[in-house]
Amino acid sequence: MRKISKADLSLRNLKKLIKKEFNETDKLIKNQINSDVNRIPKLSKHIINLGGKRLRPMLTISCAKMLKVRNKNHIKLAAAVELLHTATLLHDDVVDESNYRRGEKTSHTLWDNKSSILVGDFLLGKAFQLMVETNSLECLNILSKAASIIAEGEVLQLVETNNINIRKTNYLKIIESKTAALFSSACEVGGVVSGANKSQKKKLFNFGKNLGTAFQLIDDALDYDGSSVKMGKNNGDDFFEGKVTLPVILAINSANKKEKEFWKKVFNKKTRNKTDLKIAKKIIKEKDTINKTLKLANQYGEEAKQIMEGFENNPIRDALIDLVDFSLIRNH
Ligand code: IPE
Ligand code: IPE
Ligand code: MG
Ligand code: MG
Repeated sequence: MRKISKADLSLRNLKKLIKKEFNETDKLIKNQINSDVNRIPKLSKHIINLGGKRLRPMLTISCAKMLKVRNKNHIKLAAAVELLHTATLLHDDVVDESNYRRGEKTSHTLWDNKSSILVGDFLLGKAFQLMVETNSLECLNILSKAASIIAEGEVLQLVETNNINIRKTNYLKIIESKTAALFSSACEVGGVVSGANKSQKKKLFNFGKNLGTAFQLIDDALDYDGSSVKMGKNNGDDFFEGKVTLPVILAINSANKKEKEFWKKVFNKKTRNKTDLKIAKKIIKEKDTINKTLKLANQYGEEAKQIMEGFENNPIRDALIDLVDFSLIRNH
């Protein structure tokens, strides 16, 4: 029998506590993809039915349930958050030219770039419709802001492509925007629909922001250190795409002359090959920058846990604290 990792257990535990709401959300997500234009449900089904961890909707549901939500708006928002996430993935895989996600070929390789972009737009529109259905301008404000921040982060990342002199502050801005912004708003809107007060909403936002930043740091470490099979996406994608992420930034910061030449040459090239990646990985290993990246992720994770501990004792609160551990020790 396959051993379940501690990381997966914490995910399962939280899922158990919100099972009913989780299933309702899943149904609602799947109901959004109907259209007379056949390609829309076909392509959407491909990515949505492959699952994914559904982490962000779990956050919305859990934060709302923890604060004793008394209506169904958290289901709508959770579905909206996942649809928004799905739309960004469809767009992201085109931008990153990634051909493998959730253990399967990406949509744009099965159809084409145009279809992926346009169906992504369709899902984005559906996400906003669900938000409007909650009648909460506050939630609409939070999530529409997140949508533009995500795009801003992606554009900044694009501008910084191949820049080996990227500042760490800019790198952090990229990951806070492209990833943490959706985590923080997913948590905050869960609070809003539960009638949370200002301080509670702020805490939820900051919990999500720290968790999301840790999550992306781990993702960036796994791109050099993880298994493509477990991740369900290709190892080394960041490197091939010219994304200068923290494991590389830290290696560059402490590079000797020869190593500096390597980084300069390799990121100046139009494309990088497997041998380049092998050398990059070797240097990264020598400099121990994966561990340094994990250490920073842990710091954000600890901050997230501390913030969550500021809420009243409750099984969902504890499961959310464990979820931080899932994000830190995950391998997918
Ligand atoms: C992928 O997010 C994009 C990142 C922010 C790294 P997830 O790792 O949550 O992807 P799925 O939804 O589980 O496939
Ligand atoms: C994650 O982008 C954030 C968004 C999708 C907006 P990445 O490009 O870093 O994530 P993966 O590795 O493709 O999942
Ligand atoms: Mg990508
Ligand atoms: Mg990307």
